[in-house]
Amino acid sequence: MKKILVCHDGSKASDKALKKAVEIVTRFEGSITVLSVIPELYLTELSEVDRRRIVQALTEETNIALEKVRASLAGKSIEAKIILRQGEPAEKILETAKKMKVDLVVVGSHGRHGARKFLLGSVSSRVVENATCPVLVVK
Ligand SMILES: Nc1ncnc2c1ncn2[C@@H]1O[C@H](COP(=O)(O)OP(=O)(O)O)[C@@H](O)[C@H]1O
Ligand SMILES: [Mg+2]
Repeated sequence: MKKILVCHDGSKASDKALKKAVEIVTRFEGSITVLSVIPELYLTELSEVDRRRIVQALTEETNIALEKVRASLAGKSIEAKIILRQGEPAEKILETAKKMKVDLVVVGSHGRHGARKFLLGSVSSRVVENATCPVLVVK
């Protein structure tokens, strides 16, 4: 297990995913990349001003969440970096996993939109379905 990509959306489940990834690299060595994707908004009925405001708010929220991630990783002697992308989350996760040739992708079972009646969230199910490397889904 050399390179691990952890997908973080600020949810509790993604915190758990990060914790599990930290456990794995601590035990088996390797490095962690934490990826957070700011979703693009496809709602056509939004005005450009509203769209920009929402993206701005999402970006601020994401930066706060990633600052917490950074703080939680700071005291640990593991190789870790944090990256931020914008776009369709599952697509960006899959693209990054491929480009970085990661050995494992770690996602939470659910995210921030928590429709718990489904076994997996929409992003995690798309990642499980389409990834070309192993995926660990953390509950
Ligand atoms: N925007 C995102 N950036 C990075 N990872 C994400 C993003 N959205 C979801 N994920 C990953 O996918 C997991 C499941 O979230 P998701 O499928 O979106 O569930 P939900 O439908 O409950 O929001 C999260 O715990 C996280 O690991
Ligand atoms: Mg979600």
